[in-house]
Amino acid sequence: MISQKIEEKLNVQIGREAASSQLYLSMASWAEVEGFEGVAEFLYRQSDEERDHMLKLIKFVNERGGKAIVPALEKPPAKFVSMRSVFEDLLAHEREITNAINELVFITLEEKDYTTHRFLQWYVEEQLEEEALAQTILDKLKLIGDDKGGGLYLFDRDITSMSASPASEE
Ligand code: FEO
Repeated sequence: MISQKIEEKLNVQIGREAASSQLYLSMASWAEVEGFEGVAEFLYRQSDEERDHMLKLIKFVNERGGKAIVPALEKPPAKFVSMRSVFEDLLAHEREITNAINELVFITLEEKDYTTHRFLQWYVEEQLEEEALAQTILDKLKLIGDDKGGGLYLFDRDITSMSASPASEE
């Protein structure tokens, strides 16, 4: 059984994962309209992964005697100034999520909730992977620099083979 405090905190995290999914969905849609099929495919997949992160939390909260709350969603930004800014935003967003997960892990120790503590280790691992991948992608975009034509064409082709995680081993 989880404490009320843990339940509340996990429900906040459910909202964050849902918001991540929405943000990446909006980025994916932008990339698709801009003609970047590969980037769109990658971001649609990231959006799906974030929804999985949310689902995993919902099921955990319910299984542990709490009540998961399906959150309302804010409209994410729909326009992005450049490919680089998309991935800068994505990395900044993942860093915020990492901080939130770390804070949650800390609270589980304060509450002596070792079951939730263990459950959250999966998220700790996932954040490591996602931040590293976002950083790698940003490094590539920095290399491309102002070569907006050929460089981005190759980037769009290659990104489809990049994956955030050995993810989702449940
Ligand atoms: Fe589920 Fe990328 O945070």
